[in-house]
Amino acid sequence: MRIAMIGTGYVGLVSGTCLADFGHHVTCVDKDQGKIEGLLAGRMPIWEPGLDSLVKSNVERGRLAFTTSLAEALKDAEAVFIAVGTPSRRGDGHADLSYVFAAVEELAGLLKGPIVIVTKSTVPVGTGDKIAALLKENGAPEGTSVASNPEFLREGAAIADFKHPDRILVGAEDDKARECLAEIYRPLFLNRAPLLFTSRRTAELTKYAANAFLATKISFINEMADLCEAVGADVQDLARGIGLDNRIGPKFLHAGPGYGGSCFPKDTLALLRTAEDAGIEQRIVSTVVGVNDDRKAAMADRVREALGGSVEGKRIGVLGLTFKPNTDDMRDAPSIPLVERLVSGGASVVAFDPVGREQAEKVLPKIDYAASAEAVADGADALVVVTEWDEFRALDLGELAGRMKGKVLIDLRNIYDRAEAETAGLSYRGVGRGSAPSPGV
Ligand SMILES: NC(=O)c1ccc[n+]([C@@H]2O[C@H](COP(=O)([O-])OP(=O)(O)OC[C@H]3O[C@@H](n4cnc5c(N)ncnc54)[C@H](O)[C@@H]3O)[C@@H](O)[C@H]2O)c1
Repeated sequence: MRIAMIGTGYVGLVSGTCLADFGHHVTCVDKDQGKIEGLLAGRMPIWEPGLDSLVKSNVERGRLAFTTSLAEALKDAEAVFIAVGTPSRRGDGHADLSYVFAAVEELAGLLKGPIVIVTKSTVPVGTGDKIAALLKENGAPEGTSVASNPEFLREGAAIADFKHPDRILVGAEDDKARECLAEIYRPLFLNRAPLLFTSRRTAELTKYAANAFLATKISFINEMADLCEAVGADVQDLARGIGLDNRIGPKFLHAGPGYGGSCFPKDTLALLRTAEDAGIEQRIVSTVVGVNDDRKAAMADRVREALGGSVEGKRIGVLGLTFKPNTDDMRDAPSIPLVERLVSGGASVVAFDPVGREQAEKVLPKIDYAASAEAVADGADALVVVTEWDEFRALDLGELAGRMKGKVLIDLRNIYDRAEAETAGLSYRGVGRGSAPSPGV
């Protein structure tokens, strides 16, 4: 099948490449000329494990192409995916749909026949209806279909997620769109990935519900972590204790510095705005958003407390800046408010991130960047683990302690063992790992 993918970011590039790998012919289009030029020269605009070789092999097989021209991408296309950004609208938290609508308007004037337009971007319920109306207004051929196919991939594991999804969700209002998407995803369907058809509105809302639910699990375990600290219990064991219950499941139960990234913060907010417009209270999601905002803001206080009440004049080493490991994405990363608060409290911050430095420098320009995790420890009063990159797990804590001036390790991801850290001469503070000894009888 011939497919055009509008938007060549984390979702568009991964989806387009994987669809090409299934055997479809995909042309990815983007307004960002630098991005397309880089891709044509074999340079990836994002850091995603395995993506460069998958792009290369599909380009070589003639199934994957890149362009800045939508007209060129649309040539002979039977389906067009829209995978442009839908960030939070400044000021009110609604999803900013300007990129989606701009793409649709441009598309409408170029369509030669009635093809299927698929929204992969995360968009508020009812957006498909607006797209259909906009297409009509702008002279799209009669019979053009609009479907919703929200994406659930996770950055850092995006290719595996796209190729082995828990489910493929398709919201469509007509058989042509349903048949077209069934054909596009046939290779996955043959692999027994459930293909779930719903109405277009239901699919749009389901994406927000999924993200809000996962955000709720994270905020829940973070509040449990605070309670564990107060009463001398261990949140890691607690999470295992509840996560082994099949009704709950073990995922998204890792206590930490609060959720960040390109999806949960903006999607929970946008869901609240949708609910407000519909006149329906969403007290759970509203609380989750507040809990998470407070949590991110409170992480600098943990560092301050661990350093005896002030960070003024202290050198603080930060391990990891991206919002999670295996990505260079810094959008809404918990490291941002943490580092900003430490700096405004008078600390000097030195950080190391295995791949995120280039993106981090754009949002955190006022700090020092080290070339390795070990170098971050040099002369530091405290070390703070913010992102759980695998390479940090195997660090020699004795060596780090030897390089440090102070001996404080604040582990916001619980990747180290208290006993191991203490043996290395470090004073250890994890998340939700209370340690009050229980008296015997
Ligand atoms: N990043 C994720 O992990 C993830 C996961 C699931 C869903 N989503 C959703 O997918 C959508 C895209 O997210 P992303 O992270 O890939 O965004 P992104 O910012 O990385 O990429 C968007 C791309 O679209 C391009 N673009 C914008 N307008 C265009 C136009 N008119 N024509 C051509 N290109 C245009 C931009 O230049 C940019 O390269 C969002 O709605 C997001 O919520 C993201």
